[in-house]
Amino acid sequence: MGQQTIIKLVDENQMPQLGLGVWKASNEQVVGAIHTALEVGYRSIDTAAMYNNEEGVGKALKESAIPREEIFVTTKLWNDRHLDASAALQESLARLQLDYVDLYLIQWPVPEQNHYVDAWKQLIELKEAGLTRSIGVCNFHIEHLQKVIQETGVVPTINQIELHPLMQQRQLHSWNATHHITTESWSPLSRGGKGVFNSPLVEQLAIKHGKTPAQIVIRWHLECGMIVIPKSVTPSRIKENFDVFDFRLEKEDLAAMAELDIGKRIGPNPDNYNQL
Ligand SMILES: NC(=O)c1ccc[n+]([C@@H]2O[C@H](COP(=O)([O-])OP(=O)(O)OC[C@H]3O[C@@H](n4cnc5c(N)ncnc54)[C@H](OP(=O)(O)O)[C@@H]3O)[C@@H](O)[C@H]2O)c1
Repeated sequence: MGQQTIIKLVDENQMPQLGLGVWKASNEQVVGAIHTALEVGYRSIDTAAMYNNEEGVGKALKESAIPREEIFVTTKLWNDRHLDASAALQESLARLQLDYVDLYLIQWPVPEQNHYVDAWKQLIELKEAGLTRSIGVCNFHIEHLQKVIQETGVVPTINQIELHPLMQQRQLHSWNATHHITTESWSPLSRGGKGVFNSPLVEQLAIKHGKTPAQIVIRWHLECGMIVIPKSVTPSRIKENFDVFDFRLEKEDLAAMAELDIGKRIGPNPDNYNQL
């Protein structure tokens, strides 16, 4: 099946480039999904307090025979806890039955509330206390990133953003890269491949490489240097989505994929998403 690729983060920690997303999976579903994923070879799981499935993630990890240190666990701080990140992470750890997570992310900047710099300062302390090995953000635009860096001098390891062929975020990805921030793609399949899997180009590349449209899209994220966390609770898809390390897209394939970018968001724009 080929070898999983590992990304070195700016803080020197290492993270698998392909992981399993679990948004919208129930506690029950997530247990089975993680067992399948670990069997197939995944070693990274992306959850969040807001997904209400950290208990299920914890149960699956506890049941697994794979040592804790071989699995990279990400969880996230929800918007109403920006002034209370330490307690929020402790609650997540209790639900996950873990002593530490590998990555703790601020899920949204929530500009109206304007507490994300305070949240970032607490995440720095949580890393120093060993409750998370790495810290980062999600859905931060350049101005939000500039503000946290200017005020603390600490660069987020990761910026997890909506990124898929219809919304390629080249400017933000490039800004992240210039500042040694790794870009992680959420909704990488454009949530089930809508408008992507049936595009003539992706269908054509699937035939050319003898792969499925989902595999072409996941490979595209890997080739472009993003960390990618496709979500599935379907065993055959969990397996399919990991079977992407035995082929490469060619230069002309990547150039053609670039043409699919129409700047189409599925999720909210972080500049005006203020839900608590
Ligand atoms: N930081 C943030 O604000 C944020 C926001 C959104 C998402 N995320 C993270 O990113 C992860 C991925 O994003 P997402 O869940 O929104 O969307 P996604 O991964 O792009 O798509 C998930 C959907 O695609 C289906 N699917 C998966 N593999 C498939 C395949 N091979 N063929 C056909 N359909 C397939 C899944 O169905 P089944 O499960 O039924 O198989 C599910 O409906 C989330 O789970 C979450 O961890 C983060």
